[in-house]
Amino acid sequence: MADPAEAEMVRVWDPLVRIGHWVLVVAFATAYLTEGEPAWLHTTAGYAIAATVGLRILWGLLGPRRARFSDFVTGPGRVMTYLRVLIAGRSERHLGHSPAGGAMIVALLVALAITAFSGMATLAVEEGEGPLAGIVTSATLPTWAMEGEDDDDHYGEHGEGDEGGEAFEEIHEVAANITLILILLHLAGVLWASRVHGENLTKAMIDGRKRAAE
Ligand code: HEM
Repeated sequence: MADPAEAEMVRVWDPLVRIGHWVLVVAFATAYLTEGEPAWLHTTAGYAIAATVGLRILWGLLGPRRARFSDFVTGPGRVMTYLRVLIAGRSERHLGHSPAGGAMIVALLVALAITAFSGMATLAVEEGEGPLAGIVTSATLPTWAMEGEDDDDHYGEHGEGDEGGEAFEEIHEVAANITLILILLHLAGVLWASRVHGENLTKAMIDGRKRAAE
């Protein structure tokens, strides 16, 4: 017979969502803390982020109910109402992501995608390396991306034709810092919602299970 405590729990997060989440945590921490040195570790962490974000976007369209964007992406009105009530210490409980959680997930995925893409574009323009090598080159860039000082080469000595790398490098740094701010807000939201609803959302992101009843 099933343990009564067990019977009250339901599976909410599938393995891809959970493994993807913790891959993002480790990869972002690694990429942020290495800041480009050693380059192989920084780029490997960046590729892990790009692959995980790509897979998560596909999963948001094709995956099971709770993983789908249609289950948790709502309009700004619902997000603001949810946040107002949450800050007041109440708010409705959601078995899947809440409206605010959903908005944060979209923001995190977009910020991570921009960070990873601009990092790969920097590498392609400055070093002619990585998956965008030959696709993003100084010849394919618009003029705005060619402007600016050529004095801060992220990947070492400049070679021929690396102009434009600085624009992407700047976007890369700003996007990484915006992502970090979003992560801090994400953590605050997770802790606050866990407190208000008397449940451990972090544990649920590990074992995939949440309390079925309110
Ligand atoms: C130790 C730090 C972190 C903890 C404890 C944590 C915890 C959580 C929890 C509990 C959820 C589910 C929220 C809910 O119940 O609706 C979640 C979702 C999410 N978190 Fe984190 N998080 C952490 C760091 C990060 C970082 C660093 C990133 C990005 C680099 C991130 C990206 C996401 C994303 C994309 C989701 C949505 C999961 C999905 O549906 O695929 N988290 N996080």
